[in-house]
Amino acid sequence: MTRRSFLKNSFWLILLGIGAYPLYEFVVSKRIHPPIKVHIHKHLLPGQYIGYPKFYLFETKNGPIAVSRRCTHLGCTVNYEPNLKMFICPCHQSRFMWDGKYISGPANGKNLAKFPVKVLKNNEGYVVFVPRGA
Ligand code: FES
Repeated sequence: MTRRSFLKNSFWLILLGIGAYPLYEFVVSKRIHPPIKVHIHKHLLPGQYIGYPKFYLFETKNGPIAVSRRCTHLGCTVNYEPNLKMFICPCHQSRFMWDGKYISGPANGKNLAKFPVKVLKNNEGYVVFVPRGA
């Protein structure tokens, strides 16, 4: 193998590795890093909510909504203000509706993430699926 062909093959292998990484992240990492299941053994009535370090769970007429507490600006943990029914970020004051919709601030139009929620049988509670790193 000449030096030139070695460099050429190395170049293509590196390019293949760079191109395959996003595919690896998409396909494999979901199996290796499944979401964290948070079990909540409490039944909420519409209008009630419960807070956790990573999310707030709100019960509505249309079912539960789990809203991430990670600010979409730089990732600070937002606080829920029940009197205003909104999340306020302590870092740069971005504001979000109770359901995570962006209102104002440097988060620049990006809503808070929502996590999948499963309602347990017989209103025994919920399971919230929190993605790793959320
Ligand atoms: S991190 Fe929340 S507004 Fe900047």
